[in-house]
Amino acid sequence: MAGDLAIVGFNTNIMNFIDQIDHNRLPEHIAIIMDGNGRWAKKQGLIRINGHKKGTQSVRDTVETCAELGIKYLTLYAFSTENWKRPKLEVDTLMNLLVSSLKKEIKTLQDNDISLNAIGSISNLPSKAQKELSEVIEKTKNNKRLRLTLALSYGSREELTKTVQEIALKVKNNVFSPHLISEAVIKEHLYTHDMPDVDLLIRTSGEQRISNFLLWQIAYAELYFTEVLWPDFKKEHLYEAIFNYQKRERRFGKTSEQIS
Ligand code: IPE
Ligand code: IPE
Ligand code: MG
Repeated sequence: MAGDLAIVGFNTNIMNFIDQIDHNRLPEHIAIIMDGNGRWAKKQGLIRINGHKKGTQSVRDTVETCAELGIKYLTLYAFSTENWKRPKLEVDTLMNLLVSSLKKEIKTLQDNDISLNAIGSISNLPSKAQKELSEVIEKTKNNKRLRLTLALSYGSREELTKTVQEIALKVKNNVFSPHLISEAVIKEHLYTHDMPDVDLLIRTSGEQRISNFLLWQIAYAELYFTEVLWPDFKKEHLYEAIFNYQKRERRFGKTSEQIS
């Protein structure tokens, strides 16, 4: 009986968050650092790989929920430049999981009018993953409801370094002079040049750090940290994060009076 009551309470909570979300004030761009797969597996007495497998279900739920809600951009941190330092078996499994998920989820993307995009040093991924990625990106390129971006072999410092190199080359070749380098020019050279800045950054698993993710793009993002491990992250947790975001006042340097 106590269990039943707990379940009723839990569902009421979910309903509350759904009901209280203001659909006119949704974040345009949500980015997520999907963390805690390894700890989730360990808690179940399983090896880390199982956590990554289970985490793919949370990816699917999150993508579908964002599409349903009308979120325009969702960017998921799936593999960092630093993650190459993990044991080979884990890296290989993550790459295989990427390939199998892309094969499996193409239909979900098409059915939900979602376009896929990838940011990072994509040329460092195994050729099978690159091939699968470019196929799905090509097939979904005209979809309009949600833009899903996977950050793969992504590091913000690497992105900024590449940006500086490209701009320096243009200056050297007299494409423009240094005084014309503006924030807009820098933005044009980022992987995310055609996306708006992040409004809401979520990190699961209780860690409160950025881990080299979208440093430029989160300049004014609202940060939301939850203890929930990524494989446990469900619809209601996303609703809760959005509800929390909507309670904040984004001042962008101005005073509260100016905002209201
Ligand atoms: C996130 O989970 C997935 C990747 C970084 C690829 P982790 O694998 O980092 O899980 P923890 O942090 O060890 O629990
Ligand atoms: C960040 O998680 C990278 C991804 C979620 C893909 P990590 O688990 O690699 O981050 P750190 O090393 O704990 O900061
Ligand atoms: Mg981690």
